[in-house]
Amino acid sequence: MTDMSPATPNDLAAWWMPFTANRSFKAAPRLITSAKDMHYFTADGRKIIDSVAGLWCCNAGHQRDTIVAAIREQAGELDYAPPFQFGHPKAFRLATKIADLAPGDLDHVFFVNSGSEAVDTALKIALAYQNISGQGGRQRLIGRERGYHGVGFGGISVGGIVSNRKMFGLLLNGVDHLPHTYNREKQAFTRGEPDWGAHLADELERIVALHDPSTIAAVIVEPMAGSTGVLPPPKGYLQKLRAICDKYGLLLIFDEVISGFGRLGFAFAAERYGVTPDIICFAKGVTSGTVPMGGVIVRKHIHDAFMRGPDHMIELFHGYTYSAHPLACAAGLAALDLYEREHLFERARDLEPKFGNAFHALRDYPNVLDIRTIGLVAAIDLAPTEGSPGLRGMRAVEKAYYDAELLTRVAGDTLVVTPPLIVTEAQIEEIAAKVGRVIRLVE
Ligand SMILES: Cc1ncc(COP(=O)(O)O)c(C=O)c1O
Repeated sequence: MTDMSPATPNDLAAWWMPFTANRSFKAAPRLITSAKDMHYFTADGRKIIDSVAGLWCCNAGHQRDTIVAAIREQAGELDYAPPFQFGHPKAFRLATKIADLAPGDLDHVFFVNSGSEAVDTALKIALAYQNISGQGGRQRLIGRERGYHGVGFGGISVGGIVSNRKMFGLLLNGVDHLPHTYNREKQAFTRGEPDWGAHLADELERIVALHDPSTIAAVIVEPMAGSTGVLPPPKGYLQKLRAICDKYGLLLIFDEVISGFGRLGFAFAAERYGVTPDIICFAKGVTSGTVPMGGVIVRKHIHDAFMRGPDHMIELFHGYTYSAHPLACAAGLAALDLYEREHLFERARDLEPKFGNAFHALRDYPNVLDIRTIGLVAAIDLAPTEGSPGLRGMRAVEKAYYDAELLTRVAGDTLVVTPPLIVTEAQIEEIAAKVGRVIRLVE
């Protein structure tokens, strides 16, 4: 049976939902039907505060007038244009704006449609660059434990989440992993970057010694690991990684899919840390989550290395039908404009201390093992229920939604808060109070 009512579909079977416990969801569905600014509205008529910017993406909040208008206008003017051998003006304008936001000589932007595609594109560009630079032996890629780089084969290969990898075969050859940077005993209840852990970057020296630098193309890390429960980089860690990459000629890729566009108070985390990678991956916030888009920003010499050979030749055999889709470009231009006009990146930076205070105040709540805050990000580790890791976390998401009018997210038993950058001080307090209530409800 087909029900055309958008608010109350009565057949949930056909959509196999991503990263979802499909059977429990369909037994008690949480249906979101509209959104505005900091709130979602549900099929059963409730107003729920969005503490996670959708999925770390709606950085300007929901249904912002200028972004909505830009998408509408674009759909009525140019619905689609092929990106292979043709272009449309907004793609060039958006690329220029993004390159201007990026640090150093990260000057060239390759558009894709998601974070996963951005990561696979970055890895391919790194390998191809080494190849055309006469370093074809450099084929290894180095990721990090607890890293999340999306769900493409490249991304799960360099990623460090067992459940995302174990069912999908042998993955890419020649991948190694740095250790993750979290140690509860040394870092618990840190605000911002922990003091302990910079030495873990030296593990790259060990990996280089094991494989020989002549076999390694690139190192990819999230400046702040997000999806495995928010692991801010130890002070000095990224600087060390940069130095070791320089020493051995390895490209350094920052996956800024969630840290980009203001989450840590800067356009990119690279700026916060004063570390310029060779390649940046972005997605999510570039359109404030409104239209799928991602991309890769590369340093000038990497781009220029490809611009050789006969002019009529394609320089990089890579791209997607929807690369630089006109609706995404229109949304991206409007989102970047809004970020600038409302000073949202600076706003995140200014709010960071108050945001940190609000969530660190929960440290004596039941089952709280650690709280980490950085930028407009908070993670609260709850003790797992005996024998059922992840159960307390999932219950917290449900209790938040049904009993506290709060949309939140968990990574295992870690509650994660990453609100739109328009969040007010009063709403920070409101969200923290609701999170506190939820922690008690799942005691
Ligand atoms: C760091 C990082 N990289 C890549 C991705 C994948 O992005 P997408 O889901 O758009 O493919 C994510 C998604 O959360 C992410 O956090």
